[in-house]
Amino acid sequence: MAKLDILRYPDPKLHTVAKPVQAIDTRIRTLVKDMIETMYDANGIGLAATQVNVHERLVVIDVSENRDEPIVLINPTITWMGDERIKGEEGCLSVPGIYDGVERATAIKVRAQDADGNSRELEAEGLLAVCVQHELDHLMGKVFVEYLSPLKRNRIKSKLLKALRDED
Ligand code: NI
Repeated sequence: MAKLDILRYPDPKLHTVAKPVQAIDTRIRTLVKDMIETMYDANGIGLAATQVNVHERLVVIDVSENRDEPIVLINPTITWMGDERIKGEEGCLSVPGIYDGVERATAIKVRAQDADGNSRELEAEGLLAVCVQHELDHLMGKVFVEYLSPLKRNRIKSKLLKALRDED
């Protein structure tokens, strides 16, 4: 297994729209393992392939307490979304150190394949529902800060660009 590099906002590659996974083969299964390892290593609850610069529809999620219940969603689509909305604090491994409120549906259903190619529908609510919506946004090239005001977003951009410069 290998730890992967995570793209950081405002890297334009984060705005790439992912294509469907064509075949769940050895390459994809290795990518899944590496993404799960990368997510755990970074203490994240979700990671989209987009964030590791692979532009295919694949995300990994783990919202469990013990970090031992990874969920793999390949070619996911939201099939149902409840009417209720909640605004919660979100963060993102591609936007380190930034947390802000985003409004999301509190309950959704998502259809996806797992790493064995089995298709299933997952019912998600609460944190899991929010996380799925956040990760699926990544596959559409959307980062959560795009829900914030342009002023806030520009401030975040400057802050992260400065942090990158300071690292060099
Ligand atoms: Ni994210």
